[in-house]
Amino acid sequence: MKTLAKINVPHPFPYQGSKRGIAKYILPYFPSDVRCLIEPFCGAGAVSIAAAAHGLAKQFTLNDLNKPLMELWSEILERPSVLCDEYERQWLEQQPDRKAYFFKVRNEFNKTHSAYQLLYLLARIVKGSVRYSSDGQFNQSADNRRSGMKPNTMRQNIFGVSALLSKKTTITAVDFRQAVKKAKENDLIYMDPPYQGTSFTRDHRYFNGLSYEEFAEALSHMNELNLSYIISYDGITGEKSHGKLLPDNLHLKHLHIHAGRSSQATLLGNNHETIESLYLSPSLVRRLESDKPSIRQHRALKQQKLAFA
Ligand SMILES: C[S@@+](CC[C@H](N)C(=O)[O-])C[C@H]1O[C@@H](n2cnc3c(N)ncnc32)[C@H](O)[C@@H]1O
Repeated sequence: MKTLAKINVPHPFPYQGSKRGIAKYILPYFPSDVRCLIEPFCGAGAVSIAAAAHGLAKQFTLNDLNKPLMELWSEILERPSVLCDEYERQWLEQQPDRKAYFFKVRNEFNKTHSAYQLLYLLARIVKGSVRYSSDGQFNQSADNRRSGMKPNTMRQNIFGVSALLSKKTTITAVDFRQAVKKAKENDLIYMDPPYQGTSFTRDHRYFNGLSYEEFAEALSHMNELNLSYIISYDGITGEKSHGKLLPDNLHLKHLHIHAGRSSQATLLGNNHETIESLYLSPSLVRRLESDKPSIRQHRALKQQKLAFA
């Protein structure tokens, strides 16, 4: 575990549910010897980006079931310059009538699934909240009070993310179970699946639903393989707890972290503070305990400062 120095961590695009704000609470639970960090529900990949910025893994695997999103990730890592030029072109072109331009791009995206158009849509949609209709059409509206991230800021962010992750990252767009198939004992898997407690209030915010039972079954299999994983799973907003706890028979270490006022809560129209659940797998806990005493001591200090319970 390295010192978490204050580093300005770039982010590639706004994404509802992004762990950008709380990545710093999750990194202290990384063991010191992570070969590959695998993020099977990556979205905007906030934890991988933060881990790369702090040098906490040698390689990365980013995966999300949303194929156009992962094509966008490929562009970010392999062709950042073309991507930023295209973003700038669209951003400037939209100015005479941003509202009409957004609908034009959205209609085209639903035919082409182009990564360039997706970046523009992500920059313009309300609270970065991706939504698809039941027949798979991107149907979120634009926030017409804003133009979307300025091209120069976008360029800085995209190049920043690209510098951190290109040449050491594998990108896939498959179900999370498939994405963890190649995981080894010296890897670390960070999972941030769709929220169970709130998905019924606003359908289709994420690309796919995921049942509690299916998720628990996959975790049980991962335990049999001695895999190290961290899960962000639901949380408490105000007095309301979202969803069930993960089952006891998985023997996970359950922690709570204060996540501040959540965008989730804002989406649902309240201002409560969110407490996020973090679960650590039994193999990860053993691995953390077997780190050198100096590393453990340093980590304990970090955890004390950042977490409770
Ligand atoms: C809560 S978001 C992850 C946000 C991410 N941690 C970040 O920092 O931006 C959950 C993601 O899981 C993806 N997803 C949903 N079902 C999936 C599945 N079965 N396999 C892989 N990804 C899935 C969604 O497309 C969505 O991007």
